[in-house]
Amino acid sequence: MGDRVGWGIVGYGWVARDYMAPGIRDAGHRLVAVADPGLASRAAAQAHGARAYESVAELIADPEVEAVYVATPNHLHREAVEALAASGKAILCEKPMAAALADAEAMVVAVDRHSTFYATAFDQRHHPAHRALRDLIAEGRVGTVTTIRIVYACWLHRDWTSFAGQDNWRIDPLKAGGGALMDLAPHGLDLIDFLLGESIVDLAALTQARAQDYAVDDGALLIGRTASGILANLHVAYNCPDALPRRRLEVLGTEGQLTAIDTMGQVAGGSLTFTDGISGTFQPIAFDTQASPFLEQVRAFGSALRRPDERAAYSATRDLHTMRLLARAYAALP
Ligand SMILES: NC(=O)c1ccc[n+]([C@@H]2O[C@H](COP(=O)([O-])OP(=O)(O)OC[C@H]3O[C@@H](n4cnc5c(N)ncnc54)[C@H](O)[C@@H]3O)[C@@H](O)[C@H]2O)c1
Repeated sequence: MGDRVGWGIVGYGWVARDYMAPGIRDAGHRLVAVADPGLASRAAAQAHGARAYESVAELIADPEVEAVYVATPNHLHREAVEALAASGKAILCEKPMAAALADAEAMVVAVDRHSTFYATAFDQRHHPAHRALRDLIAEGRVGTVTTIRIVYACWLHRDWTSFAGQDNWRIDPLKAGGGALMDLAPHGLDLIDFLLGESIVDLAALTQARAQDYAVDDGALLIGRTASGILANLHVAYNCPDALPRRRLEVLGTEGQLTAIDTMGQVAGGSLTFTDGISGTFQPIAFDTQASPFLEQVRAFGSALRRPDERAAYSATRDLHTMRLLARAYAALP
């Protein structure tokens, strides 16, 4: 069997079709089957050689499916994860864990009860540039880390969907759980945890509904602080034209700065540079620019599925902490 994992996917929409399925293929794993009530989504899966079921129950009954990637709209993660946890299959569930904190809490209870191998799909942990960044921070390249600054933004208009006629659930507060803050900030918050090896503990946010015509926030600024005192700020937005610079990550320290441009997101590549804190000179940092974070995420999850000692890298409790930060930030909005 080796590391060639048999995957199922619940919710074969944009991210599953355009990023996860290629990641499964490029890792040498196999997409066995999908479950999706949408006809167009099922047809797309069949065109990629997968079996296509209407229900999660049918996917669970498929013995060739070992691990399941959940990529439904946010409010539907819970029912899929609870059913899958009871089935004994491993679960990789998209972020945010759920649209509502109570659902995320219930998911953690379910995966704990069944001792499920569960991970939230924080693909940014697996971008080769971010892995290089983490190693450089650990080696002390920037000295004492003082601050992390993240910009992660895009343009999301009200009619955006991946298939014609499909529901744009992202602009529905009950289905999405929020707007740009709920959708995009989890990536940055989790990435900070990955880079530093410690979580944000205090977080405040301001949101706006400024440029788009819908009920969820289209922009947010967040400020946070870790237990050891590192500050973080994040700008996330649905109101930033895609042609503008909109994906940037900076790690500042007492001896220099690491800057990653165009690495946040689903695709391979981008750039990483070190700026020396005394001379101000720049130095490019090499990393694998061919491997996408989705490919690396599939490889890492598959490896941990076969080698349980590697599962320590994943923590549903840590992911629930990120959800709690987001819920608190929304609840405290003026
Ligand atoms: N990690 C990332 O970079 C990233 C990028 C995009 C989306 N996401 C996350 O992935 C999830 C899906 O986002 P998307 O943009 O692909 O959405 P989408 O709307 O393109 O696709 C959702 C799919 O789920 C299907 N679906 C609806 N109800 C279902 C049900 N009950 N059971 C099974 N399938 C059902 C729909 O038919 C559709 O095919 C969200 O949680 C989102 O936050 C993550």
